[in-house]
Amino acid sequence: MTPPSAQAAAEQKPTVLIVDDEPAPRAALTQILKQDFNILTADNGSTALAVINDHGVDLITLDLKLPDQSGSDVLKEIKRTHREIEVIMVTAYGTLQSAMDCVRHGAAGFLLKPFNASELLSISLQTSQKKQRLDRLRAVLAGNGALWGPEPACTSAWQDLMADYAAQMKGGLLEVSSRETTSPLVQLVSDLLEATDRHLANHGNRVSFYATLVANKLELPLAEQQILALGALAHDLDLIRATGRPILQRDDDRTGHRPDLGARIGRAIGLPAEAVQIIALHHERWDGTGYPFALKEERIPLLARIVALAQSFDNLTADKPGANPVPIAKALEQIERQSGTAFDPSLVDLFSRTMREQPPQQ
Ligand SMILES: [Fe+2]
Repeated sequence: MTPPSAQAAAEQKPTVLIVDDEPAPRAALTQILKQDFNILTADNGSTALAVINDHGVDLITLDLKLPDQSGSDVLKEIKRTHREIEVIMVTAYGTLQSAMDCVRHGAAGFLLKPFNASELLSISLQTSQKKQRLDRLRAVLAGNGALWGPEPACTSAWQDLMADYAAQMKGGLLEVSSRETTSPLVQLVSDLLEATDRHLANHGNRVSFYATLVANKLELPLAEQQILALGALAHDLDLIRATGRPILQRDDDRTGHRPDLGARIGRAIGLPAEAVQIIALHHERWDGTGYPFALKEERIPLLARIVALAQSFDNLTADKPGANPVPIAKALEQIERQSGTAFDPSLVDLFSRTMREQPPQQ
């Protein structure tokens, strides 16, 4: 009989499902992961899908080549039905491109066969720790209505959430990898977005990247660039209210947006005032027909004008569910047609030149 303390430890361990049709890699993965994870195995895709319906699974290592269906189809099904489960693709070198495509479809990462044991253990632990952080955030976001309610309960609810989040970070078990970020606020904003929808986090990260390119060209002071990077990442913070529902709509119209709510959240978690302004005002338009205040031209803060442009460009070009991405040159033409109406003309010039000089990979 298992002693009670050992049983309790087993219950606390995250559970990994190893999906591979060959016994040797299954045994190798089991050997490497068994100290830190409860192990389940499956030798084909349909068994894997049945196992995740019957057991609480945190992490899956998923072979790209399975006898009954492709690993990428299994991944898509898992992300459709159990989007909170993290998946690491396992592949041979010859199918590396397919594994990278899987990352676009929601895999947390990929591993090449033959396994490097320490790399495998490290990516598995990091991924399951991130899942624990996101699960906890998802539970709080869904369960604490005060987060979305009136002051002063709202700010106090956000402070509780942040204290809980900080305690997890200090707990050792949930230590973040040094690669993830240097600033705790960047990490929190990024996790809040990802807990809601991975595509929302990706959008925020890309918008932050495009905005930073513009800031560099403008030679803004470093402190201002850092605030811009954070505000651009957080610009759609209002959408974390939609936890549990996939965010499919493109956000270049008013559908579903509450910039006042986003700004309130930003203030409550302690973002700098200029970053909160970005959240509040990035739906304003140069010609004064935007919202929420119909501000015109230079009455719209520069950083909000930059983010308005960067996020529209990303909405046009990003490959995300429900979107139909257009090539970069076409997207720039569309942006240029809105110079002087939606966007600041001098920023449109600068942005177009910058993007044509160093186009992002599409
Ligand atoms: Fe956006």
